[in-house]
Amino acid sequence: MNVCVVGTGYVGLVTGVCFADLGNEVICVDKDASKVEMLNNNIMPIYEPGLEEMVRRNREENRISFTTDLATAVKNSLVVFIAVGTPPKDTGETDLCYIEEVAKEIAGHMEKYTIIVNKSTVPVGTGDFVRKTVEHHRRRTIDFDVVSNPEFLKEGSAIADSLNPERIVIGAPNNHVAMALLELYAPLEVPMLITDVESAEMIKYASNAFLATKISFINTIANICERAGADVTAVAKGMGYDSRIGKEFLQAGLGFGGSCFPKDTLSLRHVTREFGEDTAIFDAVIATNEDRVPRFVRRIRQEMGDELKGKTIGILGLAFKANTDDMREAKSVEIIAALQEAGASVKAYDPVSMDVARTMLTGVTFARTAYEAAEGADAVIVVTDWNEFKLLNLEKLGEGMKERVMFDGRNIYHPEKARKFGFRYYSIGR
Ligand code: UDX
Repeated sequence: MNVCVVGTGYVGLVTGVCFADLGNEVICVDKDASKVEMLNNNIMPIYEPGLEEMVRRNREENRISFTTDLATAVKNSLVVFIAVGTPPKDTGETDLCYIEEVAKEIAGHMEKYTIIVNKSTVPVGTGDFVRKTVEHHRRRTIDFDVVSNPEFLKEGSAIADSLNPERIVIGAPNNHVAMALLELYAPLEVPMLITDVESAEMIKYASNAFLATKISFINTIANICERAGADVTAVAKGMGYDSRIGKEFLQAGLGFGGSCFPKDTLSLRHVTREFGEDTAIFDAVIATNEDRVPRFVRRIRQEMGDELKGKTIGILGLAFKANTDDMREAKSVEIIAALQEAGASVKAYDPVSMDVARTMLTGVTFARTAYEAAEGADAVIVVTDWNEFKLLNLEKLGEGMKERVMFDGRNIYHPEKARKFGFRYYSIGR
């Protein structure tokens, strides 16, 4: 099938290359010419395991191309995916300006029946908005349909998630267009749900908000565990064996960050408010999450004698989670700002997000290894649960430190092990 994907961010790029890998002819469009040039030179704008190799292979076999020319791409495609950014406004409302811009452009360039698919995470009602926008801006009465087909990929495992999704959700206005999308996804042989556009849009928001709720829930339980002398990791494990609960997304820590959960929960709350419905559950999820870092920093101050001025703190991990270089809504940014505000010096290390970090953080010394970040430090803080931190030589780490103090925001060590190496060790909910 001839497919066009507009937007080469996480979702667009991964979706495009996966469709190409399934044998489709894919044109990826981005208005950012430098990004397109990078992609044409096989330089990936994001770090994602397996992506570069997959793009190279499909480019060599002429199944994928990158361009800024939306007009030609639209003319040559039956299915046009919209995968552009949906940033939040100050109110939490999703800004649909990029979606609108693309919808208008598609409308202006369509020459035959086209299926327009919303892949970006968008509030319920956006499909209708896109339909009206295209209707209004098309040059002739060319037929089209607007479909909602939300993406559930996670950064760091985006390709695997796209090729082996737990479900495909297709929100379609009629059977005919649903069948066309089914055909595109048929090779994956995974469960597919066909529903109306609004329900598909709600499935995406409800899923992300539910996962965020699990995280805020277990973090609240962690707070109680800290007071009661219980171990939240054991509690989560015990809960997770119940298949109605499930073990995923019950890892207590510094709260959810990244480009999706924080913004999607705010957006869903905004939509809920607009409909005049009760937002209590979302208020709690958001407030709990927003207190994770302040609470953690309070703990650090308390354990370090309240005085951080003149202290050096080593930060292990800057990315918002492991296996990505993404630092959007990363807890590291918030923690570092609080430490600097309190007068501490910060030395930081991350396996892959150092380049991104240099553009986002000021006054930070960047180390080349975890050991170097700990060198001369009064304490180290584990912010991201990178695998390479899990088996660090704690003796070596501690040797270089002024004092062996560790705040583990991701519970990657066993308290006993850290203590065996002479660390004053603090973790979450244990
Ligand atoms: C998420 C959804 O999982 C994905 O389905 C959707 O398409 C996009 O948003 P992503 O943001 O890539 O994916 O990361 P995810 O692995 O879901 O983690 C989100 C945040 O929650 C991270 O900050 C992570 O550290 C945190 N988290 C996750 C926890 O604190 N505890 C957990 O148990 C799981």
